[in-house]
Amino acid sequence: MEEKKKVIFSGIQPSGNLTIGNYLGALKNWVKLQDEYDCYFCVVDLHAITVKQEPKDLRRRTLEVLAIYLAAGINPDKNTIFIQSHVPTHSEATWILNCFTYVGELERMTQYKSKSQNSGGGESVRAGLLNYPVLMAADILLYNTDLVPVGKDQTQHIELTRDIAERFNNLYSPTFNIPEGYIPEDGAKIMDLQNPTKKMSKSSDNPNSYILIMDSPEIIRKKINRCVTDSIGKVKYSDDQPGIKNLITILSAITGITHEEIEKKYEGKGYAQFKSDTAEAIINELRPLQERVNDLLKDKKYLENIYKRGAEKAYYVSSKILRKMQKKIGCIPVSRSSESY
Ligand code: AMP
Ligand code: TRP
Repeated sequence: MEEKKKVIFSGIQPSGNLTIGNYLGALKNWVKLQDEYDCYFCVVDLHAITVKQEPKDLRRRTLEVLAIYLAAGINPDKNTIFIQSHVPTHSEATWILNCFTYVGELERMTQYKSKSQNSGGGESVRAGLLNYPVLMAADILLYNTDLVPVGKDQTQHIELTRDIAERFNNLYSPTFNIPEGYIPEDGAKIMDLQNPTKKMSKSSDNPNSYILIMDSPEIIRKKINRCVTDSIGKVKYSDDQPGIKNLITILSAITGITHEEIEKKYEGKGYAQFKSDTAEAIINELRPLQERVNDLLKDKKYLENIYKRGAEKAYYVSSKILRKMQKKIGCIPVSRSSESY
């Protein structure tokens, strides 16, 4: 019998234009993992609405993220690619898991702390922002996921997912697989170009602080040229030089050249050449991807075919686990007619 492949689940929010942080921290690694695992890659639009979204922008960006998945090299014939809101089991499972999650646990999440501050704090913080990790836990647990490839910022959410799953399993009987995070060695955390002690984020209000996957070569050159470095003047991978360290991380994640080799190559050369080479490496990496994204976005029918097929498969797999959850907690099972999807 053919050995069953391990399952991977991951997702990106269509909450802004994707950055090279998303690309190097998430997408590039998904592409490497797709042959070895049974993969589910989701565009998590319901996570995006935990902060304010313009409906027409959300629609546009959701399709763009899907196109970026494909353009980055994720094969729709081998993987399940879908849009979260098309698969209602995610929301249903979230409600159940909410009843097995403590408010205190959610309030301790660092992402919640920083996002709730950004949204003004206090009375105006949306409950969805607090419950965000529970929806993420549902995403992961509904597929018996073994591995969750994400950037470092998501490790806390994965720990919480494991805690919720173990709690449910202990209260009833083994229901969920306990997933593990999978954090890439390089590119796990790409930093803000203007404030390199902070994570590069697509929701920053200063465009010079990030490079978007869809940025033009001129913009990329300008942003790298302007990025914050230091006055030490040595290309060195050191915590004392967070700006330079970040550029080394980026260059290394793209080219596969080690930190030491990069340091050696630019020894005694200052920053100008290093910055310019880094910009060119980014441009060369992104150019073919950008062309494919633009082509794919012209073919809405093709994209629709992919997300429809993905949603059907995801629904089929996840409803089995959802039914198991419902049964264990005491919901009465009902047999549904076949047209229920
Ligand atoms: P998000 O943009 O929050 O939807 O994140 C989608 C994926 O990209 C997650 O796996 C994140 O961990 C990853 N990611 C986002 N920003 C960065 C970054 N600056 N560096 C590395 N990975 C990132
Ligand atoms: N919360 C993740 C992020 O912001 C996105 C996400 C949602 C996700 N559901 C997921 C990632 C499930 C991995 C698995 O990066």
